[in-house]
Amino acid sequence: MTAERNGDQLAQIGVVGMAVMGSNLARNFASKGHTVAIYNRSPEKTRSVVEEFGAEGDFLPAETIEDFVASLQRPRKAVIMVQAGAATDAVIAQLVEAMDDGDIIIDGGNSLFTDTIRREREVAAAGRHFVGAGISGGEEGALRGPSIMPGGPVESWETLGPLLEDIAAKVDGTPCVTHIGPDGAGHFVKMVHNGIEYADMQVIGEAYHLLRYAAGLDPAEIADIFTEWNKGDLDSYLIEITAEVLRQVDARTGKPFIDIIVDAAGQKGTGRWTVKEALDLGVPTTAIGEAVFARALSSALAQREAAQATTLPSGKTQTWETLGVDKQSFIEDVRRALYASKLVAYAQGFDEINAGSQEHNWDIKPGDLARIWRGGCIIRAKFLDRITEAYENDPQLPSLLLDPYFKGELDKGLVDSWRRVVVAATQLGLPVPVFASSLSYYDSLRAQRLPAALIQGQRDFFGAHTYRRVDMEGTFHTTWSGEREELSY
Ligand code: 6PG
Repeated sequence: MTAERNGDQLAQIGVVGMAVMGSNLARNFASKGHTVAIYNRSPEKTRSVVEEFGAEGDFLPAETIEDFVASLQRPRKAVIMVQAGAATDAVIAQLVEAMDDGDIIIDGGNSLFTDTIRREREVAAAGRHFVGAGISGGEEGALRGPSIMPGGPVESWETLGPLLEDIAAKVDGTPCVTHIGPDGAGHFVKMVHNGIEYADMQVIGEAYHLLRYAAGLDPAEIADIFTEWNKGDLDSYLIEITAEVLRQVDARTGKPFIDIIVDAAGQKGTGRWTVKEALDLGVPTTAIGEAVFARALSSALAQREAAQATTLPSGKTQTWETLGVDKQSFIEDVRRALYASKLVAYAQGFDEINAGSQEHNWDIKPGDLARIWRGGCIIRAKFLDRITEAYENDPQLPSLLLDPYFKGELDKGLVDSWRRVVVAATQLGLPVPVFASSLSYYDSLRAQRLPAALIQGQRDFFGAHTYRRVDMEGTFHTTWSGEREELSY
């Protein structure tokens, strides 16, 4: 139990952790007219935030967690912006100790949703409220308006909602924040957001790679193409920044910036979590999976070098010249293949969210998510409006790909282009893991029959795992090593 700080005005909100994300979030609250208490484990950081940005608004710097808590209005609301994992647990423990019943602790980091579920249970047992909130938009978003995905109890949302709406990005006047659902729902959704982000980045990468190494365009020309694409169906933040990166020239060498970056992609783990969770839920998020594996393969530098040195055979590949395709139509085919693969990635991501929501009884509204992802977050894109509409029209939509609008898009020649691009890439020997696997996923989804029947036969053969028949109810086993009679169960 902590008493209020004497004399001073109190803060409406507090932020713990003054690294860039934390300090930017605090500045965002302050810029909206809120008094913000700030605290960092090493007080120098807190002081430097006040020195640098103190003039932007009302900050109440604190040098101890007790002083920080004492500077907050009740019910106290403190956002933790420290490293996910042990550091977050340590700050939660300190806040629980210093706070009172009904105060709200918000974890704004990229925490694993199962940690959030555990923390909410523990914090609730101590009488405080806990909200795991996914925050997307990077440093710039934290400062100017992120997309926010808070989970936790409804009562907390009622208190916290107006503050979060103030700092969130706005699209057509609507704040990019909504209560996602209880306990870990917010962090679950943020995790899948990041998984989709991985897939989106990878399909853009594959498009770039084909334009560069199949069609032979240079980075500046490709930048112009992306700028053009950004005016249509693909209009999105990631396409916009892709053009910026490709247009950049390295100041040291005068070479295209893209050519001086080591082609080994890093990852902090949220994409991997998305795939692990999809495996547990039994949801085929193939596009996200391939995107995570593509990053892993890119970083397996020793293996790649060894494979290059021993010049693994390519087989009989084509060249751009022997392929004999028209450059302009190839560019348009690549755009459409990118669009189609992106649709698959989003469809799979929403499938995972729906499955997670069902598994944990979260009652997540997928259309609301698409709405709060229209602005602020890394995957913000124009076509998210269409996703919202799709789920508004049919909340039980079996797959986003079956929504009449998206089906209509696929019907506008997207699938033909997609096939041509995957064939061309294969003939040229260029890797397109997400383009190709997404097309296979799409064809699997459409298929009348899948080879799974054979797998069931094999399973029954070696392990008596049984099978179902297409023509009658029940479970069956054939006595493969004996008379091959069929037994029914
Ligand atoms: C966001 C981003 C952000 C960050 C991730 C992904 O929504 O603002 O997703 O959370 O970029 O940490 O980073 P990695 O690519 O390193 O996994």
